[in-house]
Amino acid sequence: MYFVKLNTHFEDTLMNQFWNAYSEYEDELRRRFHQHRIYEVLHRFTDRDFRWYLLQIGFIAREFVKWYEVAKLGLTSESAKEVVREILRDEIPQAGATHQDDRLHDLELMGVSREEALNVRPSGGTRGVIKRLYQLVRVPQEDQDLRIMVTLRIAGEVLVAEQYRHIVDEMKRRFGVDPETYSRFYWPHYEHDLKGSQENPNSAGHTDRFDEVLASMITDRRTLKVAKEQALMAFYARNAIHDQFLDAHNALAVLKQITAAVACIIAVIFGGIVAQKAMVQYEREQWTMHIAAQSPGVAAALTDCDQELLDRFRQHRRSEDLQKVGAPNACLDAYIGP
Ligand SMILES: [Fe+2]
Repeated sequence: MYFVKLNTHFEDTLMNQFWNAYSEYEDELRRRFHQHRIYEVLHRFTDRDFRWYLLQIGFIAREFVKWYEVAKLGLTSESAKEVVREILRDEIPQAGATHQDDRLHDLELMGVSREEALNVRPSGGTRGVIKRLYQLVRVPQEDQDLRIMVTLRIAGEVLVAEQYRHIVDEMKRRFGVDPETYSRFYWPHYEHDLKGSQENPNSAGHTDRFDEVLASMITDRRTLKVAKEQALMAFYARNAIHDQFLDAHNALAVLKQITAAVACIIAVIFGGIVAQKAMVQYEREQWTMHIAAQSPGVAAALTDCDQELLDRFRQHRRSEDLQKVGAPNACLDAYIGP
């Protein structure tokens, strides 16, 4: 009996280790989210540009119920479905305003007219992000329940709170609106989506409602790796909404292409010998084929990984980052870890 208890305790501890490792990785993504270049320049946006930013990211909020419904239909676990249903019920309560009513209220507080809010069209960049979010919860896929739940938690809750943290700051600084008093959408969402928040003493916030189900799914090294990989793809998809707002976006894209070409040349120089040069070429071909074989969502995430490594090289000048560019699986491993 004693040994059975000891063994059970040992298994529980191991399971918690995997869950804790995932949670720590998620915290790293939360920190990285704020390193996007947009947060260096957001305070310099004109009010008009800031409103355009609000309207475009608002399309993800407008799509939320449909996206969660589609994702939920792909789940096989009843307890996972119930987590999603609970959040959907919060979105459109039995009485009072829906979250989209509240969003319109906050937009009007910041000078967006009702007509503008209702007639705005999504940009190409915004449509691309929404497409990627649906792609991440597609069925069938391996580890379907785990991948869907990680995606919803990261892109639908965790990063929403991190993004709205900036919006409520701007609401106060730019428009003189105290969010804690007057906001009905951005501030409440920031509060109840924030990891570790308590909506009230008896109820966990939206992010934390995934804890129990996800902890039951992330129970060994393999599922930990799947969860990290999916979290990273959801991070890139959700973060990509920001790219379109940078003034220098097009110039940056050209710069990135040039940097990529230079990086390949430098990688060969670092390799030093013909055999290594041949291997780099071989790996690039394998990498290109690997990306081409992926679904659009995965392919976009892998391409982003490459770009991140180049950005790291530009920032820190470490040759090991360059060596991982274009190498099959190396770039994802560099971010996901063992
Ligand atoms: Fe939420």
